[in-house]
Amino acid sequence: MNYDVANLSLAEKGKLRIEWAERNMPVLRLIKKRFAKEKPLQGVRLSACLHITTETANLAATLKAGGAEVTLCASNPLSTQDDVAASLVKHQQIATFAIKGEDRETYYSHIKAALDARPMITMDDGADLVSELHSKRKNQIPEIIGGTEETTTGIIRLKAMAEKKVLKFPVIAVNDAMTKHLFDNRYGTGQSTIDGILRATNMLMAGSVVVVSGYGWCGRGVAIRAKGMGAHVIVTEVDPLRALEAVMDGYQIMPMADAAKIGDLFVTLTGDIHVIHGEHFKVMKEGAIVCNSGHFNVEIDIPALEKLSKRKRTVRDFVEEYTLNDGKRIHLLGEGRLINLASAEGHPAMVMDMSFANQSLGAEFIKKNAKKLEKKVYSIPMDIDKEIARLKLISMGIKVDQLTKEQAKYLASWEMGT
Ligand SMILES: NC(=O)c1ccc[n+]([C@@H]2O[C@H](COP(=O)([O-])OP(=O)(O)OC[C@H]3O[C@@H](n4cnc5c(N)ncnc54)[C@H](O)[C@@H]3O)[C@@H](O)[C@H]2O)c1
Repeated sequence: MNYDVANLSLAEKGKLRIEWAERNMPVLRLIKKRFAKEKPLQGVRLSACLHITTETANLAATLKAGGAEVTLCASNPLSTQDDVAASLVKHQQIATFAIKGEDRETYYSHIKAALDARPMITMDDGADLVSELHSKRKNQIPEIIGGTEETTTGIIRLKAMAEKKVLKFPVIAVNDAMTKHLFDNRYGTGQSTIDGILRATNMLMAGSVVVVSGYGWCGRGVAIRAKGMGAHVIVTEVDPLRALEAVMDGYQIMPMADAAKIGDLFVTLTGDIHVIHGEHFKVMKEGAIVCNSGHFNVEIDIPALEKLSKRKRTVRDFVEEYTLNDGKRIHLLGEGRLINLASAEGHPAMVMDMSFANQSLGAEFIKKNAKKLEKKVYSIPMDIDKEIARLKLISMGIKVDQLTKEQAKYLASWEMGT
């Protein structure tokens, strides 16, 4: 078995942490049990480009239990947990290509290695496998029956491909599932982004001015958690509806050019490019902290920050201090990459349980329906989404009401008024 991980001697620690995550992934556990019996992915070669975390290790075990031959590579150079990568190789015999802090060249060599396994199903977080297949590995496309995509940014890329009719196989948009984005993006990113910031800086949130850029699912999560910890939260947006929602949720809204002057901490979660750029750095306060939790490291214009600076040094793990030409210091966290995965552990297992239940059932859906699916982006079917929510509630010991016959009839009718 081929693999490339940092250090196999970390495997035991990784195994324990993977087991810890598994305890909080009851829905995935149920799916794994069924997969082990029914083998719905028998004979399927599946390559997954995901953050190599304890939760992903449990997903990989589930897919393998279902009969898939799984190969893993990292979906971000900084998000790999080296002990998990080691355990995947040593204990689960899963070909894994991921090293925390890998350079760009190694990152892409790992994506290539995952594609060398000749996948029939791709599983992406950011669409790198799909993009590489469509640009450099067109010869492999006939072997692909479909793919799944985890995140908002990946789906935007894939929908653009489908729109331009260049997408060559069907992809299931896992992020579109309500049991994914309503929970993972909001509560997962909300908590783990703050966790990453605190682990990197040990700053006090109470009394700080926190600027949250983007009031989508992720931004809402970070804003509400920062507010709950006593920060004064400012939101920046480009979408009038989202901006209005943020106003009514009680936040201050203003353009980044104004927020830049007063923020202590800046968090970008837009999926957009250069949301914080040179003109913003110029007016920031001494000691401002800047970070990103959106998918790619393009939200903060780091080259502009480099250009404005006369000195740069690492002052703590994941904290670069830039000294601008006028002597002001700005701190960039985690090289502008997803801070919740760079300096913390990503989302808690309890929320990834639902995201990865969607991934597993998405892969099963592709295998079952391969012949019927067109070359476009599909949402997770609503019955799968609802089933995952139902199982999650059961696992939490929460009961809900059922419609009575009378209520079901009433809701399906139009005749009855007051
Ligand atoms: N850190 C994580 O673990 C994690 C988890 C899930 C998603 N993501 C990523 O986070 C990003 C956001 O995801 P989402 O689900 O919240 O997306 P979303 O589409 O729901 O929200 C993005 C918001 O950003 C706004 N925006 C765009 N350009 C902007 C600009 N220049 N200034 C201010 N606001 C701007 C949009 O109007 C939108 O409201 C994506 O890149 C996604 O892939 C990260």
